[in-house]
Amino acid sequence: ALPIAAILGATLLTGCQQVNQSLTIGDMASAYNREIFWMSIWAIALSIIIFIGVSYALFYTVQKFREDKHDAPPAQFHGNNKLETILVAVPVVIVILLSVLAVKSMAALNPTPNQATKVDVLARQFWWNFSYPETTSDAGGVVTNGNEMIMPTKEAVALTVTSGDVIHGFWAPNIGGQRAAMPSVKKTWQVDNDRAGVYQGNCSQLCGASHANMRYKVVALDQERYNTTLAAMKAYRAPEPAPGSAEARGFALFMQGKASTGAVACASCHRVQGTPAAGVAGPDLSFFGTRRTLGAGMWEAMTDAQWTDAKAAGELHAWLKQSPVVKPGSLMPRYDGGEYMVQGKKVKGGTLTDTEIDDIAAYLRSLKLPEEADYWKGTP
Ligand code: CUA
Repeated sequence: ALPIAAILGATLLTGCQQVNQSLTIGDMASAYNREIFWMSIWAIALSIIIFIGVSYALFYTVQKFREDKHDAPPAQFHGNNKLETILVAVPVVIVILLSVLAVKSMAALNPTPNQATKVDVLARQFWWNFSYPETTSDAGGVVTNGNEMIMPTKEAVALTVTSGDVIHGFWAPNIGGQRAAMPSVKKTWQVDNDRAGVYQGNCSQLCGASHANMRYKVVALDQERYNTTLAAMKAYRAPEPAPGSAEARGFALFMQGKASTGAVACASCHRVQGTPAAGVAGPDLSFFGTRRTLGAGMWEAMTDAQWTDAKAAGELHAWLKQSPVVKPGSLMPRYDGGEYMVQGKKVKGGTLTDTEIDDIAAYLRSLKLPEEADYWKGTP
């Protein structure tokens, strides 16, 4: 068993070091995954021993009692207490051993998460909110970010997962495990990863038209950077746009919409920390300018540096204008006046001009954490 474990271990270890962002339960930087790995190795090793034992017994019996070696029928006897005891005792011992190992792993993986950093995970069709229940922002309300979760490294993180509508699945295998996100049920467990980096998360439960467009990023930061970032998030207040600027016009539209053309205010569904925008029907947009994903991971690398500004701006423009077109099932209204479906009913969106859309985009991109709290900095 040991050489097999060594080979498997080596394979998995090299695999995860090369592809940091791949979805893998073989990420040995997570204590959760290590526990599962060694539990599996024991189960596989015992299975191999049983397989060899049974195979040996089978071939031994076939060989020893071949018909051509025996003219007369073999001796007839009834029962063999010693043999039967062994045949019962050995499987019982193996089952007990596996049970003990399984219970030990379950206890290790499902502790009462009291000491750890706490993160509340809310799944919705089709996005995620990550809240830090122990960190109330200076502007009021718990610090929350949409679709991008930060966590410290080398420390257990206690997640509480729930859903605001249908059943979703929280699945970020590099930090360990998977949990169903169910409405009105709160599931807790601990995840962890020793290595700073960006990890992929997906919804793992078929949940509607945009199930495949329900992704998120987990950014694991060294303890010091995590503290800096969370402190900055706590202190954050959305900047006041300069009067007359595109951001200021965008902010006005964000807060009030445009009643004359039926354009609903963004603030009715979205929250921006430090402003009166406190909607909860859509993802929290407090740190939108720092985020690098858009549409729950439909687009990545939304930065000026990594994409050309025009390209990122184009995606954001298309998103703001026609969200239900680019993402089936999105409940965000259309702002090109077109129709879209909400729970089987056709609804007509409002209308905003391209300039007005760009103003809202400019406002959103101004919602940036300070440079030292940019959790994406230095990531691949
Ligand atoms: Cu949410 Cu699939």
